[in-house]
Amino acid sequence: MNPYPAIVLALTLISMCPAYMINSPALLAKTQQWNPKFVPKQPLQHNTQHLLMFGRPLRNSLSSLSRRVQRLLKLSKEPSHPSQSSMPQYPLDPLPRDIALTNYNNRVYHCPIVIGSPGQRFNMAIYTGSSLTWVPSIHCPPEYAINHHYKRYNNDSSYTYHAKGKEFMAIYETGVVEGYWSEDIFRVAGLKVKNQTFGEVIQEPDLFQDMNIDGIFGLGFRGDAEGPTVFDNMVIQGLLPASVFSLYLNRFNMGDRDSVLTLGGINSDYYTGEFVYAPLRSPNYWQFRIDGVRIAKRAGVYSMGGCEAIVDSGTPFIFGPIEEVDILNLVLGGSPLQGWPRMVSDRFSFDCSKLESLPDVKFIVNGIKLSLSSKDYVIQEYRDRELICYSAFVGTKWEEDETPVWILGSAFMRAYYTVFDKENNRVGFAKVKD
Ligand SMILES: *[C@@H]1O[C@H](CO)[C@@H](O)[C@H](O)[C@H]1NC(C)=O
Ligand SMILES: *[C@@H]1O[C@H](CO)[C@@H](O)[C@H](O)[C@H]1NC(C)=O
Repeated sequence: MNPYPAIVLALTLISMCPAYMINSPALLAKTQQWNPKFVPKQPLQHNTQHLLMFGRPLRNSLSSLSRRVQRLLKLSKEPSHPSQSSMPQYPLDPLPRDIALTNYNNRVYHCPIVIGSPGQRFNMAIYTGSSLTWVPSIHCPPEYAINHHYKRYNNDSSYTYHAKGKEFMAIYETGVVEGYWSEDIFRVAGLKVKNQTFGEVIQEPDLFQDMNIDGIFGLGFRGDAEGPTVFDNMVIQGLLPASVFSLYLNRFNMGDRDSVLTLGGINSDYYTGEFVYAPLRSPNYWQFRIDGVRIAKRAGVYSMGGCEAIVDSGTPFIFGPIEEVDILNLVLGGSPLQGWPRMVSDRFSFDCSKLESLPDVKFIVNGIKLSLSSKDYVIQEYRDRELICYSAFVGTKWEEDETPVWILGSAFMRAYYTVFDKENNRVGFAKVKD
């Protein structure tokens, strides 16, 4: 079955990529991406075509979009962290807030947000890989509105709306989302956030199809040039006890607990044991360092060169450097999927009857091994009524001047409760409580 030489299978080591900071504009733009290719058009059990749509972070479209990238970078140059001095005293002990998230086929997690006065309700995909928050606008021209099921924000009917008079843009693999910056009141998890800037989008590709999602709730680390993120504003406006949020992502159709975003703290109902913390390594992203990736039960030589990583609730996959991920998939016993278009790398499948025997994959963070079992890294879906078990590990290629980054999507986050801690500039992981 396996076309690769057996010697490859003897490798016990997933070699490490060099550790340095994200500094290239191309990557900066790339890690801002939401990748709509991950989004199936219909529930996967009933539709096989869209298995083919799963992609990788932005690549090809970058060069042709470079001018737009430059514009975007210019727009988002000035970080706008809430500074200590501008932070008012908190009112009487605000408490952390939980908000339930809806899990769409383990692909996307979303929650409702109400914008404006009177309120207009939107389903927003939560995305820790980008700080941009946007909704479609009622002013979207008809040619972009065909087949769209989205809710649209109507600025004319909100008396708390303010125009910002500036262009908004976000770049995705399948296209560019454009519009203008607007400002209004946001209501999230019972909190009222005033003077929130957000993108009001008048031009967009049909990103979400039938998923019942309207826009994106950016929970990325850094604000944009037009003002603080929704989360930062909650902190600035004294609505939360701490500049911390945490995510519990459940497994689709398993168990009865909702996925939960906890704003302002950590909810101990969802994890067990101690947190492993990693300091942030970028002023822009939830980026940290992993010491390495290992496979269990295969002792050997380990290079501990280390590698950069980000946590990203906006993708179901775990992306890593292509050379390493191809080997990882082979060592795990995967075989390249036939009949699937080769993207940057092959997609790998496993024998569904042997999932139990697959080894664990361990990400080493701050010296501690965070294990993923096959239950975590194998994605099971029906295709022509046949169960397909394929790997969540997907290879991606980086240009020479780019820093390779592991992107730990929801396949990772379903196994590890994740805390995003701005108070201490770190991310933390604890085993999800079953
Ligand atoms: C709403 O947005 C449109 C398009 O930008 C603008 O022409 C209109 O004046 C805005 N409405 C209000 C009430 O400001
Ligand atoms: C903040 O929003 C309020 C209405 O909610 C508005 O009156 C005020 O002008 C806004 N402040 C700024 C600085 O835009």
